[in-house]
Amino acid sequence: MRRTVDLRSDTVTRPPPGMRRAMAEAEVDDDVLGKDPTVDRLERRVAELLGKPAALFFPSGTQANQAAMFLHTRPGTEAVCEAESHVFHYEMADAAWLSGVQLNPVESDSGRLTAADVAQAIRPGDRHHPETSLVWIENTHNMHGGVVVPVEAMREVRSLARDRGLPVHLDGARLWNAAAASETSLGEFAAEADTVMVCISKALGCPVGSLLAGPEELVGEAWSVRKRLGGGMRQVGILAAAGLWALENVLPRLSEDHARARALADGCRGIDGVEPLEPATNILMIDLTRPDLRAGDLADRLSERGVMLIATSPKRLRLVTHFDVDDEGIEFALEVLRDELA
Ligand SMILES: Cc1ncc(COP(=O)(O)O)c(C=O)c1O
Repeated sequence: MRRTVDLRSDTVTRPPPGMRRAMAEAEVDDDVLGKDPTVDRLERRVAELLGKPAALFFPSGTQANQAAMFLHTRPGTEAVCEAESHVFHYEMADAAWLSGVQLNPVESDSGRLTAADVAQAIRPGDRHHPETSLVWIENTHNMHGGVVVPVEAMREVRSLARDRGLPVHLDGARLWNAAAASETSLGEFAAEADTVMVCISKALGCPVGSLLAGPEELVGEAWSVRKRLGGGMRQVGILAAAGLWALENVLPRLSEDHARARALADGCRGIDGVEPLEPATNILMIDLTRPDLRAGDLADRLSERGVMLIATSPKRLRLVTHFDVDDEGIEFALEVLRDELA
């Protein structure tokens, strides 16, 4: 049988037997009419890990992010975000479509938005400009290669935002990885934002789900927004059970994914034509330095040979490690890449 290694994203994981068992055995009830007990447990556990009063389970990170956008802003205002952020490029202009909000994308040093970056983007509050209503931080930063925004930088942004009377939302789709790669806990990162979105479908390997955490009242309102967006789910404890299992069994092992991303980068350093960026977590960006190489074509050729990855620009490939990628998979990927570029 042909070997394959799927490095397209950490969303491609197949639920392992333990996770499937937990899902099959989950205690459930109607989570729209009342409360599903397993969802309730997951929401409490995530709120506790993030040090927030409450959390709400959503079908996706996009929906949870956009519920936060809706709750923090008013139509006709502007939200400041990083220029390569997920909310700016990959959420279908939902801020405009659902909340009537314009995004103000700010360039930064590798996704690490600073207070100075944000300060120059906040509008002066005169009659000629839109009013700034929200500051948005992404951590880890996906398109900048999974970099961790240091908690000190977040603290400074939060302090500036507070001085200007602005809320901060944290897109923490992979906040798990930020905590695993640093001396900073989930709670310490989350303390620097009013609301936090985390995905259990990314690094943790669950089939579905994200949570929005924050103040009790705001999370209560988020329930209605989720329903408006069509995200009411019934016996959804089956999915929450996967999350609870992953918090016990997958969260503690994320540094293994980070080590494998570093091993991939190390292996690439000897290959002519590619230049890996230093991975901070589980995402490795590789730049193509040979003029004849096009990332889309190379990604197609590698995929045909069983190494699946994504081209994020004409000269850049993205490779993501996760629990279905082992050391052998890394060696195989490097072997095929070396051979293809020989
Ligand atoms: C940083 C970030 N935020 C939000 C999302 C959206 O999550 P979902 O795909 O569950 O809608 C993603 C998905 O890749 C992401 O990488």
